[in-house]
Amino acid sequence: MPDRYAVIGHPIAHSQSPLIHGLFAQATAQDMTYEAIDGGAEPGGFERAVQAFRAAGGRGMNVTLPFKLAALQMANEATDNARLAGAANTLRLDGGRIEAHNTDGIGLVRDIERTVGVPLRGRRVLLVGAGGATRGVLLPLARAGAARIAIANRTADKARALARELAPHLDGVAIDGGGLDALAAGDAFDVVINATSASLSGQAPAVPATAFAPGALAYDMVYGKGLTPFLAQAQAAGCAHVADGVGMLIEQAAEAFAWWRGVRPDTRAVRARLTVPLA
Ligand code: ATR
Repeated sequence: MPDRYAVIGHPIAHSQSPLIHGLFAQATAQDMTYEAIDGGAEPGGFERAVQAFRAAGGRGMNVTLPFKLAALQMANEATDNARLAGAANTLRLDGGRIEAHNTDGIGLVRDIERTVGVPLRGRRVLLVGAGGATRGVLLPLARAGAARIAIANRTADKARALARELAPHLDGVAIDGGGLDALAAGDAFDVVINATSASLSGQAPAVPATAFAPGALAYDMVYGKGLTPFLAQAQAAGCAHVADGVGMLIEQAAEAFAWWRGVRPDTRAVRARLTVPLA
């Protein structure tokens, strides 16, 4: 019997995870299946679906919106990545136990360093946005050796609160938070990451041109949308190096796959399949 894995979310039809993990399984010759499960909108539906999958012999799950917080809460154990993110995107089902992990930030760091080709050690990193997407990547960015992390958000207080809360847990990396408007007067960054949901509604957060240091990388966590307003804005500011989040999507999946199976898949074939030109 092949081992069973699944992605759970609501809605779930749009998920690329079955395609990605199917290709990984094929390429690494793992005897496994991977399906998509809709956790539904009813209270308790997510937890029931996870327990039913586990009881049926399921070995692991990817978790997407809106269940990432609930996934962490129902776990018996969690990695520090999941705990600091306050959310889990990956579960390992080990007999009666549920272990939670979050591979989003590790995926982002791997994509920036290995695929885009920008080492993060010593770099000044600006994260735009102060929601779950930002929280989920702070620890791996710090562990990659960023010299400094700044969080800038439309609502300044949320950025300040997030920076204050996470500061003691980031291995001594300097972190500060504030409003997008405060950036106008301020510093330049080597890596500017859009972690807001603005691109999903065709908007760009108001990042001033001065925030992009010469040679900076502009990275949008969304994928499949071509050149987003944020990336276009970065180009207009003179930023030649832009990337979207397709690589993050693929690398977070590879990290989950490796955590489950102990085998790291080559991500190049999947990337060639999912990449959309940034134009
Ligand atoms: P996620 O979990 O994806 O991070 P979230 O917690 O709802 O989602 O956070 C969305 C983030 O995008 C917030 O930082 C939000 O800014 P506010 O805190 O000021 O609401 C930001 N955001 C969404 N639309 C935006 C826009 N048009 N311009 C700037 N920031 C935007």
